[in-house]
Amino acid sequence: MAKSTVTDALLAELGADIVQLPAQFGSRQLRDWSGVPGAVPAALIRPRTTEDVATALRICHAFGQPVVTQGGLTGLVGGANALGGEVALSLERMNRILEVDRTSATMTVEAGVPLQVVQEAALDAGFYFPLDLGARGSCTIGGNLATNAGGNRVIKYGMMRDQVLGLEAVLAHGEVASGMHKMIKNNSGYDLRHLLIGSEGTLGVITRVVLRLRPRPTAVATAWCALPDYAAVTTLLSRSQAALPAGVSAFEVMWAGYYDAVLANLPQLRAPLDGRHPYYVLLESVGSDPQQHALAFEAFLGTMLEEGVVGDAALAQSEADAQAFWTIRDAPGEYPKFIPHHSAYDVSFSISDVGRAAAQCEHQLREQWPDALVMIYGHLGDGNLHIVVDVPGSNGHQHDEIDRVIYDVTREFHGSVSAEHGIGVKKKAFLAHTRSEVEIAAMRQIKAALDPRSILNPGKIF
Ligand code: FAD
Ligand code: LAC
Ligand code: ZN
Repeated sequence: MAKSTVTDALLAELGADIVQLPAQFGSRQLRDWSGVPGAVPAALIRPRTTEDVATALRICHAFGQPVVTQGGLTGLVGGANALGGEVALSLERMNRILEVDRTSATMTVEAGVPLQVVQEAALDAGFYFPLDLGARGSCTIGGNLATNAGGNRVIKYGMMRDQVLGLEAVLAHGEVASGMHKMIKNNSGYDLRHLLIGSEGTLGVITRVVLRLRPRPTAVATAWCALPDYAAVTTLLSRSQAALPAGVSAFEVMWAGYYDAVLANLPQLRAPLDGRHPYYVLLESVGSDPQQHALAFEAFLGTMLEEGVVGDAALAQSEADAQAFWTIRDAPGEYPKFIPHHSAYDVSFSISDVGRAAAQCEHQLREQWPDALVMIYGHLGDGNLHIVVDVPGSNGHQHDEIDRVIYDVTREFHGSVSAEHGIGVKKKAFLAHTRSEVEIAAMRQIKAALDPRSILNPGKIF
């Protein structure tokens, strides 16, 4: 009798509705946004429940079958791509909001729910879910957790790690580790939640989550600021944090190279100000007293203009104005239209080093590729820069050399090769630029303890 294969076993226990073979899923896109090549998975599993996930992993573990977990496939480091031989496990059907608890200020969801659905449900319930990033419509809460996503409002509310109270995950052998708590304080031993957050699908499959909700802001003030030099940018950061009564909820910086390129290439964008300036900042503050909030924000901006910290500014008079500013900042979603072969980086430095590190990267890139398009922007309040480089006519053949320039500067400034996107496969070779040998050895020991047969996303991170 022929020996049963892993796909036979998966089909026998989960059925053809949940388990599809390549002939059924055909040309379906099963790679993330990174541009890292991906193989066609051996099968596509689309569970409906945690029990389905547990069954799938129990079978895969028994067969030593590698599994790559997939959320919305908006990741930027190839973490959700099959490298060859894996089955893909997509959370797309586990996309329900299960409960909003108004007293505890929590929302319980399945991990495949898109971020934007959570944001909107929180607002409908009179709360706020602060995590926000350009891929909000497609990325999932499970993917946000697995990458510990950051985005635009970290400066006030923290990263994804800070938005979670409880979490359920299926471990490599198919057992369910359930920690669906609603407590803010829970020091009862090691916190498995924080081990799974940021583990990029290598330690478990996150299936359900208790999210922490915040009070819904009733006042939002947003300004588009133009600044004369980098010193003015850091001055505006510290002064706004000290002076605005409700603090700063977003401080997004764009170097002129970014602003000029996105406005030149995307006709739907409108320039908020006349003229050309070296730096732009999208400054946002959210609060709870509409009248006082607007007055304080306007007065602060006036002071910054008088002192010359800000050279020119546009204050949003409506939600549509604010949205138009954010559309300029969200332009990275449109890169495939005008720079399909670009190299992209997500690095971080201490805030005091960001300006010099960025200048050094740009200088060294220009020395080698004088015609390159270099776009620098990012979440400055978190020391997080995105650097995007496009060498005209190279069709992406310079990626490795550009990597070396950016990551050597990152190492020199003791920065991080991944501020918020993770390591995946794209940055594996550079992990040791940021992490010590001892740290990497400890990570490997954790991986071996939780996934001894290395079936969960093998070949990612290290
Ligand atoms: P996927 O791409 O499907 O997967 C990402 C990783 O998580 C993979 O390793 C995968 O195996 C693992 N994974 C997915 N779901 C699970 C699960 N349920 N359990 C265990 N592992 C899982 N990121 C930021 O941090 N900040 C930004 O500002 C930002 N802006 C972006 C803007 C654009 C236009 C795009 C395209 C991406 C942006 N990203 C940003 C990156 C990306 O959106 C995030 O990394 C997001 O969190 C990924 O979610 P996803 O559901 O698409 O995950
Ligand atoms: C951003 C993504 C690239 O901040 O992280 O636009
Ligand atoms: Zn970012």
